[in-house]
Amino acid sequence: MSRTSAITTDQTKVCTLPTGLDKGRLPSHIAVIMDGNGRWAKSRGLPRALGHRAGVEALKTTLRLCSDWGIKALTVYAFSTENWSRPEDEVNFLMALFERVLQNELESLQNEKVRINFLGDLDSLPRRLQQLIEEARNLTAMNKGISFNVCTNYGGRRELVLAAQKLAKRSLNGDLDPDMIDENIFASELFTASLVDPDLLIRTSGERRISNFLLWQLAYAEIHVTDVLWPDFDEQALSKALFDYQSRCRRFGGLDPMSSEHHHL
Ligand code: IPE
Ligand code: IPE
Ligand code: MG
Repeated sequence: MSRTSAITTDQTKVCTLPTGLDKGRLPSHIAVIMDGNGRWAKSRGLPRALGHRAGVEALKTTLRLCSDWGIKALTVYAFSTENWSRPEDEVNFLMALFERVLQNELESLQNEKVRINFLGDLDSLPRRLQQLIEEARNLTAMNKGISFNVCTNYGGRRELVLAAQKLAKRSLNGDLDPDMIDENIFASELFTASLVDPDLLIRTSGERRISNFLLWQLAYAEIHVTDVLWPDFDEQALSKALFDYQSRCRRFGGLDPMSSEHHHL
């Protein structure tokens, strides 16, 4: 039986960085809201499920490219805490798809030294999926390649509430003085504790909203919205997002370091 693998198969040759991109100014961490699977399917007269399946292929391509181009971390939004409100058969299909893909791809992720993690409130996922997640996490934990994070039953508000609960418990236990809670201690209780904040957020399918994704972590991310529907997201679309990113001036509340304005106050 033939099995497609995450970032190998026919694409074993390494993809080179598009000319014109500055290797030294790539984002360390890219976050992606993979949206538009349903519309992609609808525009072809196909059931939504096939849009989600095609979305998996776009994800494999994106992971491969990010890994080859030297991006350190890729964090993708696969299922939000609000997505449970979809019809039961779509939710069930997605859970089964996550299981199948994870099972089939684990070996090639391992071969490519990908460190895979799942971020979100994982306790309410199907048992079997939870087991696979645990297995994948443990197997790849020491890998030195790209850090690949899949947000599943993830909600930014849920994450912040859970962090607040953990801090409150530590305080009640006497382990933590509430006055000592600062941004670093708070961030250390988030699902993303070991990750730097994303430098670039990509949202596909033209929607200009965050949809409860990484509310804390996106504080200073550059935002690239593309009309491309997620299943059509490819090398050209990723390259466009990176050129857009490199055209931005990141000030973090300060002044443009390249401009001389501040010498003339
Ligand atoms: C994103 O595609 C995938 C998930 C939310 C699971 P959608 O399913 O939201 O696709 P559209 O927005 O309906 O086109
Ligand atoms: C955001 O997409 C969630 C994921 C991509 C998993 P949605 O399709 O759920 O977002 P809304 O409903 O358009 O805001
Ligand atoms: Mg959507």
